[in-house]
Amino acid sequence: MRNIAVLTSGGDAPGMNAAIRAAVRAGLSHGLTVWGVYQGYAGLIEGNFKRLGARDVGGIIQHGGTILGSARCTEFQTEEGRELAIHRMRGAGIEGLIVIGGNGSQTGTYALHKMGFPVVGVASTIDNDLYGSDVTIGVDTALNVALNAIDNLKVTASSLQRTLLVEVMGRKCGYLALMSGIAGGAEAVVLPEVEVVPEQLAVRIQDAYERGKPHVIVVVAEGAKYNAEGLCRYFREQGLLPGYEFRSTVLGYVQRGAVPTCADRLLATRLGVAAVEQMMAGNTGVLVGMHNGEVATTPLEEVVQGVKPLDPWFLEYADILAR
Ligand code: F6P
Repeated sequence: MRNIAVLTSGGDAPGMNAAIRAAVRAGLSHGLTVWGVYQGYAGLIEGNFKRLGARDVGGIIQHGGTILGSARCTEFQTEEGRELAIHRMRGAGIEGLIVIGGNGSQTGTYALHKMGFPVVGVASTIDNDLYGSDVTIGVDTALNVALNAIDNLKVTASSLQRTLLVEVMGRKCGYLALMSGIAGGAEAVVLPEVEVVPEQLAVRIQDAYERGKPHVIVVVAEGAKYNAEGLCRYFREQGLLPGYEFRSTVLGYVQRGAVPTCADRLLATRLGVAAVEQMMAGNTGVLVGMHNGEVATTPLEEVVQGVKPLDPWFLEYADILAR
């Protein structure tokens, strides 16, 4: 193999640039020509490629986002779209593709693998809901952004004895809400995975004040049955929490666009290098991720079928620790 390409796809994640940099420089060190694909799978279909040298990926490790750009591409979900993508890569002499992304992106990677094109996935999503890696690129940064916000919110909530509901990202997965809630000492977490009854939450909030707390922080995952504003509206409409003041704060994309933490830069660097090594060794059709602190590969077939549950220990103790 002499020519490989790298692309980023789906939601950007802090650390993607570090992974691109690592893959490019590791590839160059093996004597490969490395191509960058711009705008994810959309760029693959359009043949939007550029040869990358070591200098092209200089000065990016400290930046969030992705220098290659990303996209959510419906055309790639069709057989014709994928055939065109493979045709474009073969036309440019590209023999292997590294895809840095989360669930949707790795479904695309697997589809290319099934069509016989050599691919390696790199586990990257702030949601940490990708089967095949204990932790994914961007999670640590997204958690730390949430944690900073929770710490700040707690200060002002305490001053005015308010209840603040903070919404964090996670359309289908409550990982960020659960972990930032525990690390931030929240009084409650609201997750897509656990049934939420607003009346019970209101009782819990009232109970926290009665136990002497000067504030209540509720961390809500955006994909829960009620989001933060939805809960506030429900409390108001149902006349719950009379006499208490509550407000919502939505973090949203602030979490995704942050400067990558040291942990994310190092994780992304390890995975970017490992992806090239797996490609060179011919171990394709796999996701490169972390398992028990070590780089590990998982067949993409398992990745796309697997479900990564929330850690039951944290789920069990979230309530107890909030007392
Ligand atoms: O990157 C993951 C994620 O942030 C989810 O938590 C979120 O729901 C989704 O992406 C939103 O992304 P977009 O608005 O780009 O579709």
